[in-house]
Amino acid sequence: MKAGVIGWPISHSKSPLIHGYWLEKFGLSATYEAIAIAPENLKADIERLVKAGYCGFNVTVPHKQAIMPLLDYIRADAERIGAVNTVVINPDGTLEGRNTDAFGFIENLREGAPKHDFKKAPAVVLGAGGAARAVVYALAEAGAPQIRIANRTLVRARELASAFKNCVAVDWEALPEAMEGAGLLVNTTSLGMKGQPPLEVTLNTLPLSALVHDIVYAPLQTELLQSAKQRGHTTVTGIGMLLHQARPAFHAWFGVMPDVDEALRAKVLAA
Ligand code: ATR
Repeated sequence: MKAGVIGWPISHSKSPLIHGYWLEKFGLSATYEAIAIAPENLKADIERLVKAGYCGFNVTVPHKQAIMPLLDYIRADAERIGAVNTVVINPDGTLEGRNTDAFGFIENLREGAPKHDFKKAPAVVLGAGGAARAVVYALAEAGAPQIRIANRTLVRARELASAFKNCVAVDWEALPEAMEGAGLLVNTTSLGMKGQPPLEVTLNTLPLSALVHDIVYAPLQTELLQSAKQRGHTTVTGIGMLLHQARPAFHAWFGVMPDVDEALRAKVLAA
């Protein structure tokens, strides 16, 4: 059995490490490789993977939307999120698109903060890009009573808010008010990532009971998480979302639902 991850560029992807770890752990004689596919070759190269007998592949930047018209079926959640990160190639050669990012997000929070109740209080989401769509979808499905979306470009926050239930767009400048009464704060922007500008937000108005999560995982302890910890918030790092989103894909291709163990976490963090 053969699987992989397609993207352009692809050398940075940690997916081969994650799936390779599980393949070895379960003693499966399958392969998972990084496959560089340039945008202009997407259709032809996917046909090549089908012919070569692949059982599926992950999809990363810049193909997560572009691949959608090339698929035979798209699961409802991927359709709602508007992006596919996992493709299953059926024995008859048909292609099914899925999105496991929302699952990864929720599972990571459940693991890091098992007592967190999504239904209890509003959530504040920073950012309105691709990652934010999966997060907002997941929060809406988990029953968040309100999702307050703040983004540098307000119009993108408005667009995202209009696509899902219980959402409101808020001005970045109005974040202090948006944090009042919130039970969860999530950063989905690239701010705070190694090589990116810092994320400058003040947490003064965020209730101390609120959970703080950053999907940025390089560095693992972002400035946001550090300052939240100092205030006494429970914090959840972003690496788990990456690890947990890989589990349903592995299950779909290889028939085993893997777990996230400490050795895997350490391996990916050290890479
Ligand atoms: P991803 O798929 O990783 O979410 P994206 O779709 O490019 O990537 O979204 C990046 C997010 O980070 C957006 O919310 C973006 O804000 P804009 O919509 O205003 O571009 C946010 N972001 C990136 N760089 C930023 C910066 N310097 N200041 C504020 N927000 C930034």
